[in-house]
Amino acid sequence: MVGAGTMGNGIAHVFAQAGWDTALVDVAPDALSRALKTIQANIERLVKKGVGGKEQGAETLGRIRTSTSVDAVRDADFVVEAASEDAKIKLALFRELDRAAPPAAILSSNTSSISITALAAATKRPAQVIGMHFMNPVPVMQLVEVVRGLETAEETTRHTLEIARALGKTPVEVNDAPGFVSNRVLMPMINEAIFCVMEGVATPEAVDTVMKLGLGHPLGPLALADLIGLDTCLAILEVLHHDLGDDKYRPAPLLRKLVAAGRLGRKSGQGFYGYRD
Ligand SMILES: NC(=O)c1ccc[n+]([C@@H]2O[C@H](COP(=O)([O-])OP(=O)(O)OC[C@H]3O[C@@H](n4cnc5c(N)ncnc54)[C@H](O)[C@@H]3O)[C@@H](O)[C@H]2O)c1
Repeated sequence: MVGAGTMGNGIAHVFAQAGWDTALVDVAPDALSRALKTIQANIERLVKKGVGGKEQGAETLGRIRTSTSVDAVRDADFVVEAASEDAKIKLALFRELDRAAPPAAILSSNTSSISITALAAATKRPAQVIGMHFMNPVPVMQLVEVVRGLETAEETTRHTLEIARALGKTPVEVNDAPGFVSNRVLMPMINEAIFCVMEGVATPEAVDTVMKLGLGHPLGPLALADLIGLDTCLAILEVLHHDLGDDKYRPAPLLRKLVAAGRLGRKSGQGFYGYRD
């Protein structure tokens, strides 16, 4: 598991819970210690809810080891990359992972929007590269979007679908395209909600209440954007805008402003809402 942020800790948690020995890698040591704390808190919450016992929780934690070096994947059968949503970072990482992981290993990416075909082309094993797009929060959400790049082999897809099911998830297969299905549909909605706030049409609370009570969404689009991370939302919209070449994906200037101010949502304590308590 490479990248120990919002998604990486959840993905490491579900793999370890399903019995996989899991190496959790991040360039930032504090991201690794935060991730372990989050996993522990999530396990405790599950135990309280009656999902698994204390012993099982301790076993899950015991299967996760942390490292700041990608060399930790040297014995891996299956690698999931969930580093920051930045094509430069991911392309460099895939080159490194290709060098460090055993030749038979599958390299998957949890990217929300970056081309799986391009990540595959950075390696010498494009047939063994695939998208494995988990939803946030990973231990709770059922879906995994399994994204086939242009060169992804049938066997790689079949194995990845099997792993997703073994984790207790429901995989859906899609082809590689900017934003796949989930973010191609979700991000324009979030962006439009931000334009509504920016233009003074309504407050964030009002926008979210309309979508929750009027359209049955469990979470309003702005609360969801805070959960995803506003920097991640901006990065996904940039990819949609650039790769599809249509101005309907133009990121709202208010989104850029919040990211520039360091208001990234839950992970920074402030986004459209405050989370410091
Ligand atoms: N946040 C969401 O709701 C969500 C949902 C689905 C998919 N994703 C995708 O998951 C990926 C991770 O997103 P996130 O929200 O967890 O981001 P995040 O910002 O919370 O965490 C990213 C982590 O990657 C680490 N990192 C950066 N460069 C690295 C490198 N070279 N090697 C190892 N670690 C590195 C950072 O230190 C950080 O801890 C992105 O591709 C994103 O698009 C996010």
